[in-house]
Amino acid sequence: MKDHYSFLTPFYNSLTKLVFGDQLMHAKTCLAKKVSEKKILIIGGGNGLDYQVFQDQLTGEYWEISSSMLQKAKINLEESSLSFHLGFFHAEKERLFDEVWLHFVLDTMLDEEIESLLGEIRKSLKPEGTIYLADFFAPKNALQRVVNQTMITFFRIATNHKRANLPNYEEILLGQNWVKNSEKEFLKGWVKAQVWRL
Ligand SMILES: C[S@@+](CC[C@H](N)C(=O)[O-])C[C@H]1O[C@@H](n2cnc3c(N)ncnc32)[C@H](O)[C@@H]1O
Repeated sequence: MKDHYSFLTPFYNSLTKLVFGDQLMHAKTCLAKKVSEKKILIIGGGNGLDYQVFQDQLTGEYWEISSSMLQKAKINLEESSLSFHLGFFHAEKERLFDEVWLHFVLDTMLDEEIESLLGEIRKSLKPEGTIYLADFFAPKNALQRVVNQTMITFFRIATNHKRANLPNYEEILLGQNWVKNSEKEFLKGWVKAQVWRL
């Protein structure tokens, strides 16, 4: 599997902190509740650095399609009880999770990939299980629109992202009968953290 993030991995975190400060980290952690009581599935977690401070509470699986990101995550989260996997996540009957974390990963996928991943997730969640989504939504002002488009263009060049826009996450999730439970907004609503359940 080709690693489209190998170029970006060494300075990914410095770059996001430079542009967004701690806002993305807050979006990824603000709705993480009773983590130590849950079996968590993290898909596209990147280098995992933003989970490092509470890594000792993390149990479950960590899936990445970038070997360089996964390598960093294994080091950053070495004190967690997560198992690390390179490749695309597929549901298996015996492996059920309390919560799935999709943090800034759906914005890299085409709609049909998101729909198919949600199908795998649906099969992998316990009955009361939840999705914790954190991602970029529609920009709220002119400056955000410029940065958003620049970011999309940069990622298309640097990491071969296929999208030229942001997905309509809510339309896709509602279309599959997911129900939004809670939400927090960052950067005037450009970034949102949401919890969804079936
Ligand atoms: C924009 S980065 C975000 C990384 C991290 N979640 C963060 O917030 O810093 C997207 C990450 O998702 C990974 N990714 C993309 N599609 C994936 C998939 N289908 N399964 C697992 N990882 C995926 C990429 O390799 C990359 O590391």
